Amino acid sequence: MIVCVCNRVSDRDIVRHAHAGMSFDDIQLELGVATCCGCCEGCARELVAQCSSSHPVAALRDAGAAHGPAQVAA
Ligand code: FES
Repeated sequence: MIVCVCNRVSDRDIVRHAHAGMSFDDIQLELGVATCCGCCEGCARELVAQCSSSHPVAALRDAGAAHGPAQVAA
C-alpha cells in the first residue's frame, strides 16, 4: 500500500527501513516520506512506532528459539 502518494513510498518501504533500525527522521531523509504535503506523516510515524515496539518481542522470540524448546518452556 502506498503511504506517501507525493513520493510513492509504500508501507513495505517504511517497515523495511524501520526494521533496519532507522528512525522516522532517517527514513524521511532516505525515502522523502512526508516531505511534500505532509498528509502521510501521521501514518508513516505510526508504522515506524509499531516496528520499534515489536522489535524487542521479535528479539526475545529469536533468543528463545536459539536455546531450544526445552528451555523456552521452563
Ligand atoms: S502524501 Fe506524503 S508528503 Fe504528500
